[in-house]
Amino acid sequence: NARASELVASRVLDVPDFPKPGIVFKDLMPLFADGPVFRQVIDEIVAYHGPESFDVVAGVEARGFVVAAAIAYATGKGVVPVRKAGKLPRKTHSASYELEYGEATLEVHEDAFVAGQRVLVVDDVLATGGTAGAALELVERAGGTIAGFTVLMELGFLDGRQRLAPRTVHALLTV
Ligand code: PRP
Ligand code: MG
Repeated sequence: NARASELVASRVLDVPDFPKPGIVFKDLMPLFADGPVFRQVIDEIVAYHGPESFDVVAGVEARGFVVAAAIAYATGKGVVPVRKAGKLPRKTHSASYELEYGEATLEVHEDAFVAGQRVLVVDDVLATGGTAGAALELVERAGGTIAGFTVLMELGFLDGRQRLAPRTVHALLTV
C-alpha cells in the first residue's frame, strides 16, 4: 500500500552511529508523536490484519508496545507483553538472540495465552530478525498460535524476512 509506506517513510528519522558506530538507528518516535499519522498507520495495519483474524496482540518491548496497544485498543482485543529479561513477575519462557548490536533475552509469561489463541505479534522495526524470531518462538511455547507478524518498517538488506521463513512478515515499508 503506497499511502501507508509513504506515511512511514515521511516520519522516520535516520540517526547515524546510534547506539554504536556503523549502525543507523531508525527512529519512529516522530511518527508516534504525530496523532493523525499514527492513527492512519494503525488503521492500515488493522485493515490488513482484519480483527477477525486474531484474538490478542503481543507487543515486543519496548517500541513494539506502542504499536501493539494501539492495535489492541482499535480492535477491542487484549495486549500481551513480550518483555526484556527480568521484568515479568511470574513464571516465564525465555529466548536469547543476537541483536544487530549486542545480545538480549526476551520473556513471556507461561500462562500468557489460552491454548490455541491466535496472536498477532507486533514490533516497530524488523532488522536482523533476531528479536522477532525469539518473540514468535516464545508466543508458541506459551501456547499461542501465530496469526501474523507485523512491523511498520523492515530493513530489507538485513535479511530478517529470510531468517524468519517460512513465517511471513507484513511490513508497511521496506527500505
Ligand atoms: C529494536 C527494534 C526491534 C529490534 C529489531 O529494538 O525496536 O525490536 O531492534 O532488530 P532485530 O530485527 O535485529 O532483532 P531494541 O532491541 O533496540 O529495543 P527497544 O525496542 O526496547 O528500543
Ligand atoms: Mg524493539
